[in-house]
Amino acid sequence: MIVKPDAVERGLLGEILCRLEAKGLRFVAAELATMPVEVAARHYEEHRGKPFYDELLTFITRSPSLVVVVEGPAGTHAVVRGLMGATDPKEAAPGTIRGDLGTELPDNLVHGSDSPESAAREIALFFPDLR
Ligand code: RTP
Ligand code: MG
Repeated sequence: MIVKPDAVERGLLGEILCRLEAKGLRFVAAELATMPVEVAARHYEEHRGKPFYDELLTFITRSPSLVVVVEGPAGTHAVVRGLMGATDPKEAAPGTIRGDLGTELPDNLVHGSDSPESAAREIALFFPDLR
């Protein structure tokens, strides 16, 4: 998961991490840093060429974000995505991170890996020395 720059800027790091801990998930690695643009481009390479791509890279690299490896039972990526809510915070359900805390794209507070394969790729990108 990534707690994105908008959330860190607004002082919502504790609120967001608290929701994952309360759910019973564990954090096994974390780094708070401003993401280099080359790393952001690799992380979001699936979106290259899309209309929101340039805005997305500007957003995700504008100030520090927290990249965190979350551990839990099989299917944890889907549990995290459920806690996050829909991509557009205007449409995200109340009770979710985006639904409760966000208003407008691209500032939607969090990123979550969308499959075990994405999680493995992203963990290797951000934490090459883990395990
Ligand atoms: P993420 O990858 O960040 O977890 O979000 P997601 O799967 O829910 O959404 P995705 O389609 O992968 O989009 C990646 C991020 O790009 C920004 N976005 N802006 N302006 C727009 O229409 C638009 N669409 C997407 C959001 O920050 C989104 O999380
Ligand atoms: Mg995505």
